[in-house]
Amino acid sequence: MCGIVGYLGSNKAAPVLLSKLRVLEYRGYDSAGLAVIESGRLNILKAVGKLSNLETLLQKERPTATVGIGHTRWATHGSPTDANAHPHVNHNGTLAVVHNGIIENYAELKTELQGKGYEFLSDTDTEVIVHLLSHELEKDKDILQAILRTVSQMAGAYALGIVSQTHPDRIFAVNHHYSLTVGVGDHESFLASDSAAVRQYTNKILRLAQSEVAEIKADSVRLFSFEGVENHREPISVEASAYKIDKEGYKHFLMKEIHEQPLVLRQTLSKYLVSPDKPVNFNVEDFSPELSGLYGVKMTDEEIRSIDRVQIVACGTAYHAGMVGKYVIEELCGIPVEVDIASEVRGRKLLGNNKTLTIAVSQSGETADTLAAIKDAIGNGSFTLGITNRSDSHLATLVQNLIVTECGIEVSVAATKTYAAQLVCFYLLGIYLAEIRGSITKERAKELKKGLNQVPALIELMLGREDAYRAESLKLADAQDVVFIGRGFNYPTALEGALKLKELSYIHASGYAAGELKHGPIAVLDSSVPVIAILVPGKVYEKTLSNAQESRARNARMVAVAVDGDEVAPKTFDYIFRIPVVDELLSPLVTVVPLQLMSYYIADYLGKDVDQPRNLAKSVTVE
Ligand code: AGP
Repeated sequence: MCGIVGYLGSNKAAPVLLSKLRVLEYRGYDSAGLAVIESGRLNILKAVGKLSNLETLLQKERPTATVGIGHTRWATHGSPTDANAHPHVNHNGTLAVVHNGIIENYAELKTELQGKGYEFLSDTDTEVIVHLLSHELEKDKDILQAILRTVSQMAGAYALGIVSQTHPDRIFAVNHHYSLTVGVGDHESFLASDSAAVRQYTNKILRLAQSEVAEIKADSVRLFSFEGVENHREPISVEASAYKIDKEGYKHFLMKEIHEQPLVLRQTLSKYLVSPDKPVNFNVEDFSPELSGLYGVKMTDEEIRSIDRVQIVACGTAYHAGMVGKYVIEELCGIPVEVDIASEVRGRKLLGNNKTLTIAVSQSGETADTLAAIKDAIGNGSFTLGITNRSDSHLATLVQNLIVTECGIEVSVAATKTYAAQLVCFYLLGIYLAEIRGSITKERAKELKKGLNQVPALIELMLGREDAYRAESLKLADAQDVVFIGRGFNYPTALEGALKLKELSYIHASGYAAGELKHGPIAVLDSSVPVIAILVPGKVYEKTLSNAQESRARNARMVAVAVDGDEVAPKTFDYIFRIPVVDELLSPLVTVVPLQLMSYYIADYLGKDVDQPRNLAKSVTVE
């Protein structure tokens, strides 16, 4: 995904735009740029690579303009080069556009424009927009009408920022199935893809509707539908947050966020679980007033009892959380649960009806694949429920039921604290549904709630073992290929451990159901390949141990995540990440922590960009 910002007022635009881009850098960091209007002329300043490169350029150029737009890019069309960096300008340099999303019909539009003599300097789909708008402006100088005619020709989902040299007193924003927030200040206005970037300047915001154009001036914001009809909405007041991008003494955000997990779990648990003696309650006053009426689980008890199928759609780490959710809901509620990679759902008709509960899991709430999948579910009559960390996200506006985690913004691209919170929400949801459906006893429900409340302390215990974990981890830093195995509740843990190691250290890693190894993957094992087994006392302990012994027989380097006091593990494993004893059902909350830390230590040791790994973005808003 990319980040879009805008500013106009009486202050210098560049520092404000840069500060907001810093908040959005998690969305992509292949290049960054600004378009500002200075003494009546459009000035484009852009740099490939990290935002710091643009900052260096601005320190040299020192633009004094008070109106402008900015962009931080995650490349979709065209590699990260200066030519492909946003903003893109028209042929005579009087118009600039920044863009998030994909213009699906850009190829035919580009061919048409080239046929009309327009020259393209980049490989991006974005450049089509600025030439198309320029062409429409030549027909009719009314820029708003020209914008409306332009977007009427574009297919796909996108968000735009537009600035025009002939209209230096305003910027335009276009939102089409994305998210854009306008901040209303005191004789100044702000634009950003993420409200967190605006809330550092004002607590009055306007979220653009799904197909809407905003004409933004220092003292006014006018909103128009794509048909040109003016929409009248007042700004809403939200918590102004001097959103600090602060590592608070940690070397990386990732380590800070791993350490925030106990706090995050306590916050999420206390929000929905007042006491083990009380039922789980999702209908609580949420911190986001603009959500009023949106948050909470609205299904009636009767509807909950009528559910005969659950499906979960998500991507990446959120998909792994959904897999744990499957095991939890099936175990506690006796309902069949399917978990789908959201992008795979796009390839087929998502089945469901008024007895299906479809759950979308997304920490950002902006992942295009997940949003598209939940829209399919809405279409098939399912009950829909979202689990997200961003109450101001697109997902939050789509679902009928909403559970918001209490993580604060997760800056590091690799998900850690949001994974823990998603898991907790699945446990709470499983208990919530089971209590209403009567599929577990009150005693079992109370035992699980107590167990959940003890997890933060277990994580704190493991965070106290960092030196031991780090020593074990660095023994694996030379590996070229790593295999993770787990069974039952910890099969998803094996997948999540592999993803963490891959995305942080770039070491190839695979996660398997432990029982699956012997059906082919065991062929890759030899003395150079570490096998990391998640070994938790319970239904699958013995079988997982057997699978590990089969791996050892192929001379693999054996590593275990095993509980304190397990005397059997040392006979099979060369290295052991010790974890506290935990109920098998709740163990995914605990077993993942050493794997998060191991991936961090190896990536840091190898000198990788821990918080912004190559090729990645925090949330992928393109399909
Ligand atoms: C996880 O570490 C990755 N950052 C990635 O797999 C992520 O979980 C995935 O893109 C889904 O993002 P979402 O939770 O914002 O939808």
